[in-house]
Amino acid sequence: MMADGVSPNTSVCPGQVRNNDVMLAIRRLAGADMPAVTAIVLGLPDYFTSDVAARIERDAVGHDSWVLTDSAAVAGFAVAVRRPPGGAEILWIAVDPARRGQGLGTVLLDRVLDELAAAGVSVVEAKTLDRSAGYPPYEATRAFWERRGFVQIDTIDPLPGWQPGNPAAIYVAALQPTR
Ligand SMILES: CC(C)(COP(=O)(O)OP(=O)(O)OC[C@H]1O[C@@H](n2cnc3c(N)ncnc32)[C@H](O)[C@@H]1OP(=O)(O)O)[C@@H](O)C(=O)NCCC(=O)NCCS
Repeated sequence: MMADGVSPNTSVCPGQVRNNDVMLAIRRLAGADMPAVTAIVLGLPDYFTSDVAARIERDAVGHDSWVLTDSAAVAGFAVAVRRPPGGAEILWIAVDPARRGQGLGTVLLDRVLDELAAAGVSVVEAKTLDRSAGYPPYEATRAFWERRGFVQIDTIDPLPGWQPGNPAAIYVAALQPTR
């Protein structure tokens, strides 16, 4: 059991997780969720530059995307892209800054990985800022991926598409055997 009583192992029906007296739910992201998603992104200026909300809106169209809601309010979101036949990348994941560290990201990620695995995905990638950048906010992000079973397999600097000076940590997690 995690802080605030959230446990990813207490699903009571598909997409719902009991959190004390409220019910967390996870569903597909809809266009109407974008203002709430944008508010989360803008509330995390140490993590996301001002262009990110528009990029997430573009990425959410045509890719798999989810929101985690608490009493109908969006408290987190994730976007993943499939890399057929057996790969996927989590492009974006974030939790309302007031709700971080309470297990919500874990609940959301577990659901995303379960759905990807059910769709035949074997290996999932996530990219984040490498420790060599010496930027403290992303220590918690790398810890999140590592605690959730992701393994760093590379550091790429510069990564095409990323601003110079932002070394990328490449993480992967296996959802099922590949050989
Ligand atoms: C990353 C993020 C989605 C995780 O969601 P969350 O709800 O905060 O995460 P959880 O509470 O489920 O889990 C956090 C885990 O990281 C661990 N952690 C956090 N900070 C840590 C630190 N500094 N050192 C060690 N572990 C740390 C926690 O112990 C916890 O693991 P545990 O449950 O095994 O103890 C969320 O914090 C977030 O939105 N971060 C900012 C945006 C971001 O970095 N997005 C990802 C970009 S790649």
